[in-house]
Amino acid sequence: MTVSHHAHPLPEGVLPKAELHLHIEGTLEPELAFALAERNGIDLPYATPEELRSAYAFSDLQSFLNLYYQLTDVLRTEQDFTDLAEAYLVRAAAQGVRHAEIFFDPQAHTGRGVDLGTVVLGLSRALETSRERHGLSTGLILSFLRDLPAEDALKTLADAAPYLHLISAVGLDSAEVGHPPAKFAEVYAAAKEAGLRLVAHAGEEGPPAYIAEALDLLGVERIDHGIRCMEDPELVARLVAEQVPLTVCPFSNVRLRCVDRLEDHPLPAMLEAGLLVTVNSDDPSYFGGYVEDNYRGLRQALGLTDDQLRRLARNSFLASFVDDARRAELLAELDANQ
Ligand code: HPA
Ligand code: ZN
Repeated sequence: MTVSHHAHPLPEGVLPKAELHLHIEGTLEPELAFALAERNGIDLPYATPEELRSAYAFSDLQSFLNLYYQLTDVLRTEQDFTDLAEAYLVRAAAQGVRHAEIFFDPQAHTGRGVDLGTVVLGLSRALETSRERHGLSTGLILSFLRDLPAEDALKTLADAAPYLHLISAVGLDSAEVGHPPAKFAEVYAAAKEAGLRLVAHAGEEGPPAYIAEALDLLGVERIDHGIRCMEDPELVARLVAEQVPLTVCPFSNVRLRCVDRLEDHPLPAMLEAGLLVTVNSDDPSYFGGYVEDNYRGLRQALGLTDDQLRRLARNSFLASFVDDARRAELLAELDANQ
């Protein structure tokens, strides 16, 4: 049975959109972290969800990652991963998300003794009925931790062999500086051979050269973040000419101090330059909002117009890894929403 989007009306004034840069572990809200900790008999080093939330003050990417990896410890069973994904889907649907490509960090779990199958099957159980229940189609992106050895990434890809039908792409995240894309050329070649799509974080904290390297040495089809391309006009010209999608995350960039204030964010200049920019939430529980909150923040802080916001939503569908029929359906819903 096909379920049309009419079964899932959007809130007033919210554009339909795709979310292409979202770490499922970064959707863990403090209340759910406490509930899972209790269910699994784990003591968190915080007295209350409020006290945990007040620890969400970061000085850079690493200071965030430390807390992000610490809290993954509450995720132990398939049901935990299902509950995590379901909580995200409910919030995303309320923010107009019609398609989500969702990163997960297998090594953050296997490294503490949780089986890869537990993670993938738990997440997939929530995702597989999302289209019917929330009007929201999904993909899963297996992301390698770049601050671990390349051999670990190769082993992770090999261990994922039984689950590849549930995974649409591979990505690369965690601490960027000092861990250039080149380190992962072999595993990206193997992922491509296995039929997976390719993306990578580049140019968040790391230099513009990492963006070119991800394109040239890894063969990625999208760049996650990519904001530091603006330091290199020749690179911008290339990204415009090739229409390489950039999955930009404004709230994240401010919270991790890549950008001082939302008012200073380069997104308007990136749009002006003709880059294929999308807006995403990255780790919404930690960074102050989900994807529609980011769109609204851009309107408020930078005066983005309705036309610009609509272009961002359109770009999100153009940059999605969906088939032609689904893309046409998503674009038609956007065009009908005036
Ligand atoms: N950057 C790098 N690694 C990450 C991020 C990010 O914003 N979020 C989760 N892992
Ligand atoms: Zn990210």
